[in-house]
Amino acid sequence: MTKQRVGARRSTVALKALMAVSGLLMVGYLLLHMYGNLKVFSGQVKFDEYSHHLRTLGEPILPYEGALWIIRVVLLAAIIAHVYSAVVLTIRDRKATRVGSGPRYKSKQNKRGFQRTYASFTLRWGGVIIFLFIIFHLLNLTTNDIAPGGASPSPYVRVMNTFSEWYMVLAYTLALLAVGFHLRHGVWAAGMTLGANTSVKARRNLNVLAYAVAGIITLGFLVPPFAIFFGWVG
Ligand code: HEM
Repeated sequence: MTKQRVGARRSTVALKALMAVSGLLMVGYLLLHMYGNLKVFSGQVKFDEYSHHLRTLGEPILPYEGALWIIRVVLLAAIIAHVYSAVVLTIRDRKATRVGSGPRYKSKQNKRGFQRTYASFTLRWGGVIIFLFIIFHLLNLTTNDIAPGGASPSPYVRVMNTFSEWYMVLAYTLALLAVGFHLRHGVWAAGMTLGANTSVKARRNLNVLAYAVAGIITLGFLVPPFAIFFGWVG
């Protein structure tokens, strides 16, 4: 084996680890965000207080919105690391299965002639959909430039107005299904990369964990939009 090949292989492992760690960091954020959203059931005062707290956290040591900006920078770094490793790994994968370099996994299911697994398809296209959703979501509930049902300085009213519209409930549902599929495969893949691939039992546990994380996050996020739409909140 040439020196160059060893280096490339090492860096592929490093990229997979970067992808796994940055992904798990975002899963942590999603669990906290999902829990925070459930405060909508406690009413406008509690929900808006929570949003205000996020901005005054760490004061006076940190400036106003200081802690929030730290979270934003860490999240942005995680997204950049995740997308970067995804793009580089996908390019390497395509090169490795290109005609001439040993067409492994030949298949008629894909027009390129190589097997495309359900998981890799969900992860790549799901990732693109989630990325677009995050931009839309920030314009909707953070900056409130997209404000169906009416704009408001109150985060609670923004959420209530947003999910009074059926098409917004539908849009968020589709985005969260993409998040769910992405997490089901992503958590599993991250676990395999980080060393859970040791026994049949470990793989089975990882599979259960991946379904649980994906299910809890998807359903937990979907409860407020549907509850608001059907008039069970406020
Ligand atoms: C029904 C589902 C969701 C609801 C109701 C919701 C609600 C909100 C609200 C109200 C804010 C603004 C918070 C504030 O300004 O105080 C926000 C911000 C944000 N949400 Fe969501 N969210 C949902 C799903 C998601 C998902 C699935 C993701 C990621 C994939 C996400 C990522 C973010 C991010 C990154 C911010 C910006 C935080 C910041 O920098 O201020 N949200 N969300």
